[in-house]
Amino acid sequence: MKARDPKANHKPVRKAVIPVAGFGTRLLPVTKSVPKELLPVVDVPAIQVVVEECVNAGIEEVIFITGRGKGGIEDHFDFNFELEKILEQRGKTEELKRVRAISELIRTIAVRQKKPLGLGHAVLCARDVVEDEPFMVVLPDDLISSQPSVTTQLIEVYEKYGQGVVSLMPVPEEEVSSYGIVTGENWAPSLHRVRTIVEKPEAGIAPSNLAVIGRYLLPPEIFDYLEGLEPDESGEVQLTDGLSLLAKERALVGYEFTGRRHDIGDKLGFLTANISYALNRDDLGPKVLKYMRRKIKEVDEPDEP
Ligand code: UTP
Repeated sequence: MKARDPKANHKPVRKAVIPVAGFGTRLLPVTKSVPKELLPVVDVPAIQVVVEECVNAGIEEVIFITGRGKGGIEDHFDFNFELEKILEQRGKTEELKRVRAISELIRTIAVRQKKPLGLGHAVLCARDVVEDEPFMVVLPDDLISSQPSVTTQLIEVYEKYGQGVVSLMPVPEEEVSSYGIVTGENWAPSLHRVRTIVEKPEAGIAPSNLAVIGRYLLPPEIFDYLEGLEPDESGEVQLTDGLSLLAKERALVGYEFTGRRHDIGDKLGFLTANISYALNRDDLGPKVLKYMRRKIKEVDEPDEP
């Protein structure tokens, strides 16, 4: 795939769609009444971590695709006058600054997905707000620590090639059946021309071990492909199917990002994200490490006095 003329006109990537309408069944029972996106990564809700990633990448507006019981997500990015007043009265200046900064982070828009008809349908719900611009899709289940962020990395690839980009990560053979797996050609370091995406193939017949992860940079034409799709046997419109059409009829770049990813929609991923983010913090890292060392010793040497 050719890099495009850097002087060529292209629309900047200003909007990010963040679908949050799923039920989070893998984390039940907590997700019965608490949106998984509001579960904490130490003391910050997961949704704030990904919104900050968008802000730092230059995104100007996030579009939440919401569903029943998800109102707390919008509230988190809104002003909370009562709380601010109390913090002010009690002289809690630092806390006040932190709380206020969240509501000033970015412009947010909420679009309701009335039925959870799949990720493809959720993205299609954003059509009227995204309009005719390239946009990010950010899945808040995927927390990825990297410098620069994966969103920034994808925007850089888009600016160079001018085509849709999906983030890719190699996964072990026994895990391919949990992901959308790409077929295509590797034409430069970390870059692939995607031909198709196979949703959750069985190990042994998977076309590769490159899995699509929850960061996508899509051209507005994706909406036409999604609109034409029928729901699959589970009743969902799959984003994967729209991406395969985009790859076939136009072009789609697969980009192997650098960074460590945690799937916080899964119990183990949720725990490892919390441990990893805590270890990286100056206020908590050394204490958590000390605790972990003690625990490991207890497990390894249970009979030591
Ligand atoms: P997931 O399938 O990982 O999330 O969808 P889920 O359905 O909430 O979780 P489980 O599998 O039942 O545990 C990926 C993303 O797409 C959103 C989800 O909120 C999540 O951010 N999504 C999924 C929607 O917004 N609408 C849908 O119809 C489906």
